[in-house]
Amino acid sequence: MKKLSDNRRNLLKFLLASPLISTAAFTQEFQMDEMDPDIQYLLNLQKKLIASPDDAINIFDLEAVARRSLPPAHYGYIATGVADERSQISNLLGYKKLKLRARRIRDVREIDTSVTIFGRKWPSPLAIAPTGHHRAYHNNGELAVARAAKNKERLMMLSNVTSTSVEEVNEARGEPVWFQLYARDHWPSSLKMIRRAEAAGCEVLILTVDMVGAGKRETQDRFMMMDRRNCSACHGDVRSPFRGRPMYEGVNLDDYLGAQELFNWDLIKRIKDTTNMKLVVKGITHALDAKLCVENGVDLIIVSNHGGRAQVDSRGTIEILPEVVAAVDGKIPVMVDGGIRRGSDIFKALALGATAVDIGRPYLWGLGAFGQAGVEKVIDIFDAEFKTVMQQTGATSINQISKEMLTS
Ligand code: GLV
Repeated sequence: MKKLSDNRRNLLKFLLASPLISTAAFTQEFQMDEMDPDIQYLLNLQKKLIASPDDAINIFDLEAVARRSLPPAHYGYIATGVADERSQISNLLGYKKLKLRARRIRDVREIDTSVTIFGRKWPSPLAIAPTGHHRAYHNNGELAVARAAKNKERLMMLSNVTSTSVEEVNEARGEPVWFQLYARDHWPSSLKMIRRAEAAGCEVLILTVDMVGAGKRETQDRFMMMDRRNCSACHGDVRSPFRGRPMYEGVNLDDYLGAQELFNWDLIKRIKDTTNMKLVVKGITHALDAKLCVENGVDLIIVSNHGGRAQVDSRGTIEILPEVVAAVDGKIPVMVDGGIRRGSDIFKALALGATAVDIGRPYLWGLGAFGQAGVEKVIDIFDAEFKTVMQQTGATSINQISKEMLTS
């Protein structure tokens, strides 16, 4: 048997002793409604790891490899939500509560999964969410993700805490990504990044608005505590998510200390007045804010709770989606992220009015496990599952997916 590295041994020891097990935060995507979480978790620890992305039967096979391969602190950064993970769990359980109402006796040989967003047609409603620091998971980082997005013709959103510059990512992607911005109170810093994204050809700017109040990332802290490596070569002595990040070149981080606590709707106006890029607001969880977005000229809303990484005790985003869709009343498209783990989850989101969905953790598992090939496999698995669900429910195109096909 292969000798466990110290890191791996520590990780196993930590997990087996950890309160995380009983919170079910890591019970292989919370299948605790089927089985006691502790048993589920232990079974998963013993699951045979796949050696190639081709062997993955579902996306959790890639998660298992990523969990074993990544340094604990890096895996912990993907896995973490806030506090005791209730927001993250709500995202997942929200989907599990919804059941499908299928139609029968329909010709479902041909299935068209394409959607159009801002006049651009995509082969699938599944997009790549903005997540930071991809080189922490694979040497090729964002370039691996961009090449996978190119091969699979997928909409890619790029975090501004990317470890690869927007210029290089756009080149690898073969077309401009949607660029995500953490605006802060220091407008010149935000402006610099907006101009850089514009100059790189980006046509869509995503403003994230849900990182309000310091998130208490307990899971991440626990994983970091058990990671005994000396991390200063990469992280320096003072850890900052922005330090050394290419999009922060020329941005004085001392100026950039302000946070989203200072946000108000003037910022939206300011951005709209500053750029011709389409403006997407990510992190809306309330009908009244959705209405304000429409009134303030926002072009698309992403219903998101940041994968359960920002606010505690959030409802699952699939539970929030209907009120946002109703408030927007068809005036702008709505997307949703958080907890999408199966093709059926994409279907449920579309049935409740989403134009498209975006995934975060699943493609990072693919990246951490096998780089570009892992990301492509995750996309393939979602595509195959989604197409099957469309056949099973009798929907041959996206516009046939309706609320009537769901029940709780
Ligand atoms: C960044 O977006 C994070 O959630 O850590």
